Amino acid sequence: MNTIAIELNGRPVRRDISARTHLGDFIRDEGRLTGTHLGCEHGVCGACTVLVDDQPVRSCIAFAVACDGRKVTTVEGYDADPVMALLRPAFSRHHALQCGFCTPGMLATSRDIVLRFPDADEPKIRLELSGNLCRCTGYMGIVAAIRDVLQQCGGDAHPEITALRQALRAARGESAPVPLAASAPFATFEATDTGTAAPVAAPRDEPAQAQGSASDKGTRIQGRFSVPFAADEVWRFMADLPAVAGCLPGAELTEHTGDRVKGRVAIKFGPMSASFNGAARLERDDAARSAVLKGAGQDTLSQSRANGDVAYRLVEVSPGETRVEVDLLYSLQGPLAQFSRSGLVKDFVGRLIQEFGKNVALRMDPARSPDAPLPPARLNAFSLGWSVLWSRIRRLFGAGD
Ligand code: FES
Ligand code: FES
Repeated sequence: MNTIAIELNGRPVRRDISARTHLGDFIRDEGRLTGTHLGCEHGVCGACTVLVDDQPVRSCIAFAVACDGRKVTTVEGYDADPVMALLRPAFSRHHALQCGFCTPGMLATSRDIVLRFPDADEPKIRLELSGNLCRCTGYMGIVAAIRDVLQQCGGDAHPEITALRQALRAARGESAPVPLAASAPFATFEATDTGTAAPVAAPRDEPAQAQGSASDKGTRIQGRFSVPFAADEVWRFMADLPAVAGCLPGAELTEHTGDRVKGRVAIKFGPMSASFNGAARLERDDAARSAVLKGAGQDTLSQSRANGDVAYRLVEVSPGETRVEVDLLYSLQGPLAQFSRSGLVKDFVGRLIQEFGKNVALRMDPARSPDAPLPPARLNAFSLGWSVLWSRIRRLFGAGD
């Protein structure tokens, strides 16, 4: 046994412990502070990260005896810290946590990024965060929270933080902030989405596609559909915003002035349901027969926020057939953000585009009364959800749709 004395969150803790006790167990068992979470206990996940003499340390692979006489700060001890005072509300604002298991470690690493890299951009933040794993959030909120705090304490906006940065540099023998290039010895790994392209049935049996990918502006989903009408006719129809909105399942316009609309979109997919209220503006390029609808909205139930651009372009396939190519770029913030990149959501949106295409074809059909009702305006959660799942199962076993 060894007798050690550690200053734990400003409180002296003196104990007799075995040499093999790691700091994480010491904090939890001897210090009675359970905010430090142990995940992998192999130094991989970062959940157990605490500050030892103000430096982030993985408490699962640090021996407590090695911390004898040192200052250890855990998530319970950040109250007076000026960086944490900014990080805490930023994490809430950007929904940077869900179950919270990784959060104590994320906060310790985020504080370190804010202090060491005042000019960190998104790739740098992601690189520095790569030693902390989160099962829930998709990281977008965490990165956004850190960027938010970096913006808030730019220049000399927070003298206490500036003083902490200088003290840290002095302790490391550095005279100026480490340049980003010098501190990035390897390139970041860019994940590409290859598995979610979902061939789905299109009007007139054209094999249509919905493909998803992630960009720094959000999630991108591309799809297309064809309608049996001339491109000029389709272009004229697409200028009629109330008519177009009527073709989108779950959409409802509440106001319409020129190229601006306000309304709501109700989505129900399995257990998930949301109703986004928002506004959008249409920008059209008549010569190129392309347009983009830029909108933003908020879900009344979960308070999740969505921003997105729906760009579309008409391609004349033949004098009596037009292909509409749709490019959706969106980002979600708030509780629903966890769903935004899942393959099922991409498939779901692919189906939505196909439903929209079918409704456009029905609405433009001269043999049909313009007042005849379209298929139900609200998405049928069971049938649409089931068709997406069925499509996935078929793909899994190598069958087409
Ligand atoms: S528990 Fe320490 S790194 Fe995973
Ligand atoms: S592991 Fe759940 S919030 Fe990160």
